[in-house]
Amino acid sequence: MPMVPIAKKRIKVTASVLIVLILLLALYRSFLKDPTDVNRSEANLNKDHWAFVHPKIMDDGEKEGIHQKQQKLVNQIEQAKAQIAILEDRVRALEASTPRKYPQVKYLNYKNRKRILITGGAGFVGSHLVDTLMVQGHEVIVVDNFFTGRKRNVEHWLGHENFELIHHDIVNPLFIEVDEIYHLASPASPPHYMYNPVKTIKTNTMGTINMLGLAKRVMAKVLIASTSEVYGDPTVHPQPETYWGHVNPIGPRACYDEGKRVSETLSYAYAKQENVKVRVARIFNTYGPRMHMNDGRVVSNFILQALRNETITVYGNGKQTRSFQYVSDLVDGLISLMASNYSQPVNLGNPVEHTIEEFAWIIKKLVGGKSEVKQTDAVEDDPQRRKPDITRAKSVLNWEPKVPLDMGLYRTISYFRRELERSDQFQKDSRKYFDSPAVEYIQQSRQNFVPDKI
Ligand SMILES: NC(=O)c1ccc[n+]([C@@H]2O[C@H](COP(=O)([O-])OP(=O)(O)OC[C@H]3O[C@@H](n4cnc5c(N)ncnc54)[C@H](O)[C@@H]3O)[C@@H](O)[C@H]2O)c1
Repeated sequence: MPMVPIAKKRIKVTASVLIVLILLLALYRSFLKDPTDVNRSEANLNKDHWAFVHPKIMDDGEKEGIHQKQQKLVNQIEQAKAQIAILEDRVRALEASTPRKYPQVKYLNYKNRKRILITGGAGFVGSHLVDTLMVQGHEVIVVDNFFTGRKRNVEHWLGHENFELIHHDIVNPLFIEVDEIYHLASPASPPHYMYNPVKTIKTNTMGTINMLGLAKRVMAKVLIASTSEVYGDPTVHPQPETYWGHVNPIGPRACYDEGKRVSETLSYAYAKQENVKVRVARIFNTYGPRMHMNDGRVVSNFILQALRNETITVYGNGKQTRSFQYVSDLVDGLISLMASNYSQPVNLGNPVEHTIEEFAWIIKKLVGGKSEVKQTDAVEDDPQRRKPDITRAKSVLNWEPKVPLDMGLYRTISYFRRELERSDQFQKDSRKYFDSPAVEYIQQSRQNFVPDKI
């Protein structure tokens, strides 16, 4: 039976509606589709970026995958940190168990081994005294405030069972048990002792009282490091211990010269009144390795000027004289004096006398280089002649200096050369450090740093 026209029409309308619906559905799906379906390889490349820009369209599986990856990285970092901590512990244990290499020391039994305090033991003379007494097998305690001394001078003994380093200012009392005291603490070069004259006087008066008081309490023998400066600008030449000196009590050097004179007076007052066993060494100009680079004294000035090819400057006309002893000779003299029964002051110095001008030429010759020697203005209160009379040291201690000037200077020049190289290297390293991108970054971060409001 033929279809009626109405039914035909309905079928047509329904079909057209269906087609439109199918098209709309297709269009809708194409909108929702992830582009990764379109081009899988490209989508793989951009996956993380896509996930970041359109996080909403990541499905749960992908999110879970990324989370797992992050977790894995965090775990790996934690494991690496734990392993580094274990390795650090091992390095520390290894360092502690490996015995440090110390210079060879003699074994002394308890009867012969002394506990020796050296004030100013981290300084130039003190550190050489430490070396000799340690090698002899004694127990050495160094007390220093590091004003002019430095740990580096005694670092080779740090950790040794016979050695102790105490950071202390001797202007304050000290309570320890010792058998002998070498009292060396005091700045020794003019720029250092003039830097704070009141402190220099305190160190040489209050500091000496504290050391003499300690010696009295523990019945220790005490040696005071006095100086040829107690003779001032001498009118007697060479200077014997019986000469009372020619000191300007209000001049720029008085804080040191008079400080040392009071130090001697105190020593004999304690000896007389309290029966303290005192030894007084009047030390003349001493030189050698570990001298302070900028102590402003003739030896270091001339050597540094010659090593840097600068003009060697002689104060005044250069006719003033000095005698120089090498530090190992002084150390032998100090130890002999402490061991002796002699309680009057003893000069320790090298009587071979040179004019300052001669000395400048000797150093120029030993160093080489192109330095000129030139005269400059004289210094106030600069003593004109200085030469020890060492008759007393020879007779009571059987001591006299042994190291010839050129040998001592050769060792000292080598030391200064090494120190200059070290400081040049240090400057290069710091320049490298300050030019590095890391420092630039740190500096920038500091500039950009905004502190939290409190
Ligand atoms: N070197 C010489 O030519 C010479 C000459 C004559 C006398 N002396 C005497 O010998 C001693 C040692 O001289 P140096 O050349 O080794 O001098 P230095 O400056 O190298 O050593 C002195 C040491 O004493 C320490 N010191 C200073 N004040 C102190 C304080 N208040 N408390 C604790 N420590 C303090 C310094 O830090 C330094 O380590 C000094 O007493 C000095 O007066 C030295």
